[in-house]
Amino acid sequence: MTVTAESLYEKLRHYKVGSPLCEFNREYCERLLPYVRRIEELKREKNAIVLAHNYIAPEILYSVADVTGDSYGLSKKARESSADVIVFIAVRFMVETAKILNPGKTVLDPNPDGGCTLADSINAGIVRNLRKEYPDHTFVCYINTTAEVKAECDVCVTSSNVYKIVESIENDKIYFLPDKLMAQNVLAYLKEKNIDKTLDYYDGTCYVHEEYEPESIDFIRQNNEGVEILVHPECTPPVVGKADYVGSTTGMLEHVRHSQNNSFFLLTECGLTGILQTEFPDKKFVGTCTMCRYMKSNSLPEIVSTLENPRPENIIEIAPDVRERALACVERMFHYAEK
Ligand code: 13P
Ligand code: SF4
Repeated sequence: MTVTAESLYEKLRHYKVGSPLCEFNREYCERLLPYVRRIEELKREKNAIVLAHNYIAPEILYSVADVTGDSYGLSKKARESSADVIVFIAVRFMVETAKILNPGKTVLDPNPDGGCTLADSINAGIVRNLRKEYPDHTFVCYINTTAEVKAECDVCVTSSNVYKIVESIENDKIYFLPDKLMAQNVLAYLKEKNIDKTLDYYDGTCYVHEEYEPESIDFIRQNNEGVEILVHPECTPPVVGKADYVGSTTGMLEHVRHSQNNSFFLLTECGLTGILQTEFPDKKFVGTCTMCRYMKSNSLPEIVSTLENPRPENIIEIAPDVRERALACVERMFHYAEK
């Protein structure tokens, strides 16, 4: 479908969460159109595909993205894509994962400073030392890690498959990194299912999700009869313990799509609530808004310049030995997730 200022405005006018990002008007959409047109042209010229995470700025998501999704879905798409060039609009670790899966393709990151407090909390040297300390453990890393960290680990997981994969791993001694809150949530899950595994973990957190408090859920429930509480597994165990649904960003989106309920409270980055409000205008979203500054530092002009003339930091390069070991770790995720 061809994007016009009118169609873009139709999408964005319903977007309400987080005012600096969200005061869209028709004139603003007109100003964005030259960038959108240029990106469309460059995509055709270079046989490029644009993958975009659910949290990114809505004016990008609704204009130039070919595929949107959570980190698992986007990795799968990157793995299957026949495009010559992958432009990944998200944060660095997701773009790197696309390159791990596609060594022969050009993988571009228009947001090279797009960090993540989880990915930035640990490095390969720390993992090597931990492996000496925990020699009998299977090392499970969250996808929110660098390629170098993945290369030191055994199995990668995402928020959409973490419970299933940890449960399926044959070894009953697991070391989970870097998200300590996700690890604690997995521990609670194992305990509830009477699965006897030792799970040690690292000390990282997501600065967005660690902030939510269970008291806000009580308050929202009291004031919104029948509201469903949807929570990302990067939140604290007391918050996860009060949820009606726990899952990845796409998991939450699909849950809303199929739910008979009409009112929802999401404890995750505000971009997702924005998409849901836009996609399901007849449903009610009780909102907090917590923004991930890294996801929101992507922009249409940067995508244009990255496709036209990428700087070295826009082009993902991974040393072959690191890539091969990281690939084994990521491929084990697909093996367990799809079994
Ligand atoms: P999802 O894989 O659920 O999209 O999560 C990625 C992320 O970074 C959440 O903060
Ligand atoms: Fe990382 Fe948290 Fe941002 Fe997700 S929301 S990219 S985990 S800092």
